[in-house]
Amino acid sequence: MDNYILQVENLKKYFPIKKGFFKKKVGDVKAVDEISLKLERGKTLAIVGESGSGKTTLAKSIMRFYDLTEGKILFDGKDITTINEQKLKKLKQDMQMVHQDPTTSLNPRKKIKDILEAPLLIHNMGDAASRLKRVKELINIVELPEEFLYRYPHSLSGGQKQRIGIARALALNPKFIVLDEPTSALDVSVQAKIITLLKDLQKKFNLTYLFITHDLSLVRNFADDVGVMYLGSIVEYSDVETLYTHPQNPYTQSLLSSIPVVSDDEQSMLPKKIPLTGEIPSPSNMPTGCKFHTRCPFAEDICLTSPALLETEYGSFTRCHLVEKINKQKIGV
Ligand SMILES: Nc1ncnc2c1ncn2[C@@H]1O[C@H](COP(=O)(O)OP(=O)(O)OP(=O)(O)O)[C@@H](O)[C@H]1O
Ligand SMILES: [Mg+2]
Repeated sequence: MDNYILQVENLKKYFPIKKGFFKKKVGDVKAVDEISLKLERGKTLAIVGESGSGKTTLAKSIMRFYDLTEGKILFDGKDITTINEQKLKKLKQDMQMVHQDPTTSLNPRKKIKDILEAPLLIHNMGDAASRLKRVKELINIVELPEEFLYRYPHSLSGGQKQRIGIARALALNPKFIVLDEPTSALDVSVQAKIITLLKDLQKKFNLTYLFITHDLSLVRNFADDVGVMYLGSIVEYSDVETLYTHPQNPYTQSLLSSIPVVSDDEQSMLPKKIPLTGEIPSPSNMPTGCKFHTRCPFAEDICLTSPALLETEYGSFTRCHLVEKINKQKIGV
């Protein structure tokens, strides 16, 4: 069997910008612009980027919540680029999503039992007794007491609600789960517990994760590979260790250099401070050439032309014309 559960080729998702009474199309928001990636079974790929870089749009396009503008998606050996409603419903058993904010993603008018039973009902699974058994299993899997089944979401803490979000995603025994900033709405101490739970569940059920975050400090102990996104494009793609020890793209370096550190040892591992100035430009009005050139401290004339995503001497891939030059400067050659 193919070792890759997910292969994405040149994926584009543009949203039309319409203006005026006749809603004439005047342009596109290029939320995802030619992204390719591969994800091995049982592994975690992190997608890191600032707000508005297109992370959720990439995830929702892969989950086929959206029709694609261009590109191809293979999931579990099948081409899911174009797919009918019936097949899409079947596909949703294997692909699930945990959302960023557990408060808005759980229906406040439903008891936890009903929230966890909903996916089983939608997919006509078992009878009432077997569904109740499964719902009890699920609440145990996420380490919450069974009496919570008869409560409403508002009586749970943020961390407990996110555990319910995770239990719901597991209801149909999926192979692949998108975790869209699953801990960003939570306190740091709760964050760590949810991350530990997710890691345990991954081992137990051989899950493959696409882990979306704007926080690089969460990635090192969680992901196998990382894609750094900027304005709809991957600007660096690497195994996690190489990304931290030999970040190549100035954007990756600036993200890494702003991680809070606890020790001198850690500090020495990180690149020298590269300040990230200015706001991320709008994806409806992208800079030409290298999309990062308007904020990059190293930018030169050549950056007005588009760089390709090329392999580096460390086996990672980066999108930057000046990579060799910047590296030489760093070691004083
Ligand atoms: N349905 C939509 N219609 C039009 N534009 C959209 C739509 N969804 C997203 N966008 C735009 O696409 C761009 C990428 O948005 P997206 O939500 O994917 O970013 P993100 O990286 O997930 O950000 P965040 O970290 O804030 O969640 C943004 O400019 C956003 O305004
Ligand atoms: Mg998002």
